[in-house]
Amino acid sequence: MGKAHVAVESPEPQARVRLGAIRRNLEALRRYLHPSVRIIGVVKADAYGHGAVAVSRLLESAGVEHLAVVTLQEAIALREGGIRAAILVLGVPGREELPLYERYRLELAITAPEVAHWVVEDAHRIRVHVEVDTGMARLGLDPDSVPTWWERLRQHPTVELAGLYTHLASASEPENRQTREQIRRFRALLGRLDTEGVLIHVASSAGIMHYPEAHFDAVRPGIALYGYAPSPTLQVVSGLEPALCWMARVVSVRFLPRGASVSYGATWRAPRPTRIATVNVGYADGVDRRLSNRGFVEIRGQRYPIVGSVNMDFIMVEVGLHSPVRFGDPVVLFGTPSWHAWHWAEQLDTIPYEILVRIGTRVRRIYEGDRI
Ligand SMILES: Cc1ncc(COP(=O)(O)O)c(C=O)c1O
Repeated sequence: MGKAHVAVESPEPQARVRLGAIRRNLEALRRYLHPSVRIIGVVKADAYGHGAVAVSRLLESAGVEHLAVVTLQEAIALREGGIRAAILVLGVPGREELPLYERYRLELAITAPEVAHWVVEDAHRIRVHVEVDTGMARLGLDPDSVPTWWERLRQHPTVELAGLYTHLASASEPENRQTREQIRRFRALLGRLDTEGVLIHVASSAGIMHYPEAHFDAVRPGIALYGYAPSPTLQVVSGLEPALCWMARVVSVRFLPRGASVSYGATWRAPRPTRIATVNVGYADGVDRRLSNRGFVEIRGQRYPIVGSVNMDFIMVEVGLHSPVRFGDPVVLFGTPSWHAWHWAEQLDTIPYEILVRIGTRVRRIYEGDRI
């Protein structure tokens, strides 16, 4: 990590997003995939906290022609932000919302028989992707019901059948039985359908990495674009780098005698004379309160423990008597190649996805690198 990456101009917490890293992660995926496989960039949940419009512009400029979000509002925000790529909305619409799919040229996911009925009856001019439930048990049509719907949609005068897809439940594990079975079911269904001119897509980041047989016409990476493998230990696609570095600042440093307590509830007491740095970020910004007395941050390249309870607006870290930490120092919560969201995720028994999407709106996103 170069020095410039760690500098913060404003004292407020910031999420520094290096668009160049997202571009390089995209290129790493492209190198891994067969050149004919297209990429549907998943930018739901504000591009996993990175900023959906900025990331979508970057992806568009790097030649990605297809994006995916979950809600209609996310899709409209992209259109209003000037995004022209195809946008697939993976979530479930309300019937009254269907005209907006037409107005904003959005692709609708047929995730349930009810949605299929509306689409057939209401006859909007929309492109649709049929989702099949091959074992995730979340959304999608039952495989046996798909051939009938497929023919009705194919012959419909206004609806355009644009895609067929499924979602894998356990692809982050290589050689997983359930995943193999999901792919087998999907293939069996494909054999029963006329899919001429239709985009077939199955794999998200984990499927891309561990199941080449699930690459089909297109893939739907999310987390890999942002620099994370779906498992902390398996690095199948090499060269992924975290794109977001979450930073705050030391806003106070104080000496504590042995036995003095820190923060609400006095859950930590100094076991020795020490110094405590207060950092201007808290659970209102997305720092999980369960990191109280457990988490770590980096200051001047050194890792220091969070001591005492995480507050709404501040955390305290023990920096000891002899460190060079002082007022105004930038603090890296996470987001460098050696100190990243997997470290926090493992502390919290979760995954980087949850850590990234919970970075709050009070944390300003700053874009470095590629112009957008
Ligand atoms: C249907 C679907 N496709 C693709 C993705 C992207 O997944 P990932 O971020 O693991 O690549 C998701 C996210 O969970 C999803 O729900």
